[in-house]
Amino acid sequence: MSRLDSFIRRLSAQRSVLDWATQAIRDVPGPVLEIGLGNGRTFDHLREKLPGRDIYAFDRADNAHPQSKPAGDLLVLGEFAVTLPAFAARHGAVAALIHCDTGSGDAAANARQAAWLSDLVPTLGRTGAIVLSDQRLAHPRLSVMTPPVEIPPERYFLYTIF
Ligand SMILES: C[S@@+](CC[C@H](N)C(=O)[O-])C[C@H]1O[C@@H](n2cnc3c(N)ncnc32)[C@H](O)[C@@H]1O
Repeated sequence: MSRLDSFIRRLSAQRSVLDWATQAIRDVPGPVLEIGLGNGRTFDHLREKLPGRDIYAFDRADNAHPQSKPAGDLLVLGEFAVTLPAFAARHGAVAALIHCDTGSGDAAANARQAAWLSDLVPTLGRTGAIVLSDQRLAHPRLSVMTPPVEIPPERYFLYTIF
């Protein structure tokens, strides 16, 4: 498979998973958490699929396209290790959907970060919330979901909070 094909396949999988999850939580109350705003591409997709829903976006820096980021206090800048516990303390476990898109090119750093993010995620989402992650998470309150759409192995990890 060419690198172009592989790239297209990766992004198609991401879109399929986001489309499925936004449909699945349509009647579940609570905000969406976009953990890893980056350029704002997936934020923009979530916003399009869930009009009117509060979407909090977290990142250490604002590198998003000016039209692909939330306004006001829905944009939360700073290190996840600080901003996510602060969000949980302020709002409680309220999210209906959590999208963790946090990876960089450093697999070892990704795994280290995923280990502590795993502990934070259940403090952010309500029971029954859907969690989508580009990194494998592990926590007793995260139940693995089988992807309902065809995605390349290890591309996305799906969980529900119970
Ligand atoms: C893969 S990018 C996100 C891509 C984005 N979802 C998009 O569609 O454009 C990952 C983002 O996570 C952020 N990030 C990674 N680790 C972080 C941390 N510990 N605290 C805050 N931001 C972090 C990076 O700054 C980067 O913008």
